[in-house]
Amino acid sequence: MPDHYAVIGNPIAHSKSPLIHAAFARATGQDLDYGRILGDPDNFTGEVRRFLASGGRGLNVTVPFKEAAWALADERSQRAEIAGAVNTLIRLDDGRLRGDNTDGVGLVRDLAENHGFRFRGMQVLLLGAGGAARGVLVPLLESGLARLVIANRTPGKAHQLADLGGPFGPVQARAFDQLEGEPFDLIINATSAGLSDAVPAIPEDCLAPGGWTYDMLYADTPTAFRRWGQRHGAARSLDGLGMLVEQAAESFWLWRGVRPDTAAVIAMLRNPEYG
Ligand code: ATR
Repeated sequence: MPDHYAVIGNPIAHSKSPLIHAAFARATGQDLDYGRILGDPDNFTGEVRRFLASGGRGLNVTVPFKEAAWALADERSQRAEIAGAVNTLIRLDDGRLRGDNTDGVGLVRDLAENHGFRFRGMQVLLLGAGGAARGVLVPLLESGLARLVIANRTPGKAHQLADLGGPFGPVQARAFDQLEGEPFDLIINATSAGLSDAVPAIPEDCLAPGGWTYDMLYADTPTAFRRWGQRHGAARSLDGLGMLVEQAAESFWLWRGVRPDTAAVIAMLRNPEYG
């Protein structure tokens, strides 16, 4: 009997996680199946309990349940604790539930290992201060960067996030209009502006010559922030597909103790023929 895993979210039909984990399982010879669960916002806990009671070993958790999964976990990793959100639930041998958050590691690994970005000594700008930004805070601060500046449309939320990150590395907060004349080596978009094809209202000159942009969003066509990077001379303007696959790989490793190769799966998803 294969071990059971699934992703739970709402909506869930668009999720690429089942495809990604099936590819990992094939490539590593792990005997598992991975389904998708359309979560009921009024009964998240009941659905997780039912899945585990029927033999489920672990879950990925996506919008809008990451905070509920955090609350449900019996114990949490430090990065999940600070993120305030859990995207990976692991059923431990004693039946307790461990919560982790692999989003930040996924982001850092995609940049550092797949694209060769060297964080050491870099000035990095993180746009946004909602759940997506908070989810990647600790791994970003532990990447070796020289300074992380968090900028948000509502500056008070950027300050709160900077206070939260303070113990983990050099971090400051700004309003968008305070970024003038302060060029960054890497700008990461963690806002949801792209969902309406918009970009945050940041100054035109905040990307350093040779700087990179990274949109945590991923879409089949270039996202608005990716296009912003291209227009502003970014040496690389990346989207979040690699992060998606890397966070999945980290979950797979937490569950199975095996680290899958991600390059082949990223290439598969980039190929419009794969579906
Ligand atoms: P998520 O989980 O995707 O982070 P969220 O917690 O609702 O969602 O946070 C959305 C983030 O995107 C916030 O930082 C929000 O800025 P505010 O805190 O000022 O609301 C940001 N955001 C959304 N639309 C934006 C826009 N058009 N321009 C700039 N920032 C935007």
